[in-house]
Amino acid sequence: MAERIGIVTGGGDSPGLNTVIRAIVKAASRRGWESIGFQGGYEGMLNHMKYRSLEYRDMDSLLFRGGTILGTSNRGRFSAKVGHGEVRRVADEVLREAYDNFQQLGLKALVCIGGDGSLTIAQQLYDIGMPVVGIPKTIDNDLDATIMTFGFETAVSCAVDALDRLHTTAESHDRVMVLEVMGRYAGWIAASAGLAGGADVILIPEIPFSYESIIARIQEREEYGKRFTIIIVAEGAREKDGDYVASEAGKRAGEARLGGIGHVVAGEIQKRTGKETRAVVLGHLQRGGAPTAWDRPGGAGRCGGQNTYGSPGW
Ligand code: F6P
Repeated sequence: MAERIGIVTGGGDSPGLNTVIRAIVKAASRRGWESIGFQGGYEGMLNHMKYRSLEYRDMDSLLFRGGTILGTSNRGRFSAKVGHGEVRRVADEVLREAYDNFQQLGLKALVCIGGDGSLTIAQQLYDIGMPVVGIPKTIDNDLDATIMTFGFETAVSCAVDALDRLHTTAESHDRVMVLEVMGRYAGWIAASAGLAGGADVILIPEIPFSYESIIARIQEREEYGKRFTIIIVAEGAREKDGDYVASEAGKRAGEARLGGIGHVVAGEIQKRTGKETRAVVLGHLQRGGAPTAWDRPGGAGRCGGQNTYGSPGW
């Protein structure tokens, strides 16, 4: 009987998931192995299971298709992250049920494509004996032991495009424009897009900010004749001694749903400077669309390194 492997995509979707599925299925198929994909994230491994067979011929057009054909989830019984840096052990009976189903299907390994939450779950499955392979994917780029995660570069490109567009309108109206991007506890998207897109102020979760320094920067620009300012802010950025801005509607059992800091910063700047200030939230546009070259297997840069999550000095 041919060897069989399972594939699961977990957490928030991101560009590149389908390209990775395609690469795995093609590589497996060349070795004569069968691939099956669990649907709807790890939940697909429970109860009666939801999975589908993945054939070489089904992989057409996945190179440029965003999202994940398997579906994904960042909720449910597999929730392993509850807050910044906090890890929860998934209930033993849930891990055991997934492992029993894995064995019942005769799988030799589970390939888990995910971010910090999903790879934490993968680690817990490994700890009870399941052979797993982890593939780093998250637009936030906040995983250890890899220099870049699938999804990050496409998200940065999207944010740079938004900054380019905001530049012209900010300049025409002498306004301050604030762009809020994703990045719950890591400011990679804001930092990278901000540098590439020429933002004048970059606010990231790792360095709490003060309004005094933002306003000093705006005034400095005015002194040399620049009457507009572009600010990029990660959703997890916060004022010194302040708290994360979370959306009330999004409160849920797992991690808080952040968002809203862009409007808070814009309101405060307008109040303190009298300058017309507008905020734009890029939101899920960053997670959609076709993956850029770097978010496809073989794209340059995926060769190991380190990330900033919890690292000092960033
Ligand atoms: O973890 C990836 C991420 O894109 C974060 O930057 C963001 O806070 C979160 O997902 C949003 O998740 P959801 O789509 O569930 O609101």
